[in-house]
Amino acid sequence: MAFQKHILCIGAGYVGGPTMAMIALKCPQYKVTVVDINPRRIAEWNSDLLPIYEPGLDDVVKTARGRNLFFNTDVEKGIQEADIIFVSVNTPTKTFGAGAGMAADLQYWEKTARQIRENSDSPKIIVEKSTLPVKTALAMERILTSDSKVPFEVLSNPEFLAEGTAIRDLENPDRVLIGSRETESGLKARAELVAVYANWVPKEKIITTNTWSSELSKLVSNAFLAQRVSSINAISALCERAEANVSEVSRAVGMDSRVGSKFLNASVGFGGSCFKKDILNMVYLCRFYGLSEVADYWEGVVKINEYQKERFVMNMLQAMFNTLAGKKICLFGFAFKADTGDTRESPAIFIAKRLCEERAHLMITDPKALDNAKTDLKGVVGDIEYVADPYTAASGCDAIAVMTEWKLYKELDYQKIYHSMVKPAFIFDGRNILNHQTLFDMGFNVFPIGKPPLTHFKRES
Ligand code: NAD
Ligand code: UGA
Repeated sequence: MAFQKHILCIGAGYVGGPTMAMIALKCPQYKVTVVDINPRRIAEWNSDLLPIYEPGLDDVVKTARGRNLFFNTDVEKGIQEADIIFVSVNTPTKTFGAGAGMAADLQYWEKTARQIRENSDSPKIIVEKSTLPVKTALAMERILTSDSKVPFEVLSNPEFLAEGTAIRDLENPDRVLIGSRETESGLKARAELVAVYANWVPKEKIITTNTWSSELSKLVSNAFLAQRVSSINAISALCERAEANVSEVSRAVGMDSRVGSKFLNASVGFGGSCFKKDILNMVYLCRFYGLSEVADYWEGVVKINEYQKERFVMNMLQAMFNTLAGKKICLFGFAFKADTGDTRESPAIFIAKRLCEERAHLMITDPKALDNAKTDLKGVVGDIEYVADPYTAASGCDAIAVMTEWKLYKELDYQKIYHSMVKPAFIFDGRNILNHQTLFDMGFNVFPIGKPPLTHFKRES
């Protein structure tokens, strides 16, 4: 069959893989190829065990793979053949030189731009899918058009999917954002990309802006989401002192339709590969433009998140009589959120390291993230075991700390777990997902986030 369009995606990660799988599923008339420099990742995309766990992803890939969805490592051939090239390479925080720890590391991005220029002999639309600092499209245009034989048009089309719900988010997005130059060729390229999404996304949900608004909107969206989590987490600390209940507060506040109820769950802190990276990227940008008050404001969101993780560890330490040395602590979950095996920036990494510093003995369990946990904690000095079964992991422990809101942790037989633990037995619910009163009645000493603890100890006089 002759395909109407050839779409290429460079970068077969958490975004490139699922996003292209959805385009291929919804648009059988296009050939969609995903390339990556990592041959292992590509081999996994071509196997029955995909490189990422994402509910619903297997079915989408199985339907389209081999029909109009292809994964390979031939980046150059892919570029030559493509009409539209999505770039979805990683853009981590820079770890060296100017802007280290704040700015985005654009080396993978720039290499891709040069590779596109060198292998193109027909006009192409380049789509920024990665999250990037504002004005990156300008840099890309400059690289592409210097000494080039063919015209390129650069669009910004940030991705808003969340891990764990990626397929649902891609199938039914709140919005698709496309930014372009407002020139004749820019508007034409924009219309072409709108036509791709219009295969399944209602027209009114596809919004178009100038390129810089689009690039910035992505950073701002993540900053606003993270800000809500830090806001409620800051209030959780106040609730613990004031004997208020953070769930009741967030319910009362969130019922104001101007505020809204989502993203107000107090937690052990936000994780994931993007919130911290994107906020720091924006902070760096503000400082670059001399907007130090604006930079400080947004940096506060990250600072509260660090504070929340440290506060959790200190609460454990204090509750367990100011020593964790030699005590066995079971971490329920290691992924940064439920329904993913991703552990990038997971609060569990920080907490595990801190507990090791306190010389606790860790038992880590997670239904999907144990391999990543082993990699994250490689080289950490301490006594750490990885156990798939939560009952075995908790047995013989002094405490359980819930790190990830996996549904399975709500459904365990806690009576059985209680009997297998050292007494006094503690539960620190870093996600507020358990039934605290029931656990207390079983004999546990329960420490939720942002709520008074339920303990069997006599009050201090
Ligand atoms: P990832 O690390 O999972 O995937 C990136 C892939 O790009 C890797 O497989 C890497 O090998 C590949 N790559 C790097 N340089 C390459 C090159 N020159 N040629 C070919 N392949 C190359 O990253 P991700 O989580 O998919 O994120 C990608 C981008 O999307 C980032 O900018 C991120 O901020 C953004 N984003 C991520 C999410 C998410 O949920 N993870 C959501 C929205 C946006
Ligand atoms: C987030 C955004 O939600 C996506 O829109 C965006 O595309 C993506 O970042 C990105 O750019 O990478 P993601 O990080 O996958 O998606 O997951 P979220 O659901 O946003 O959760 C982020 C973190 O916040 C998790 O650790 C989660 O547990 C935590 N969180 C979330 C809370 O602690 N409380 C809440 O109420 C909500």
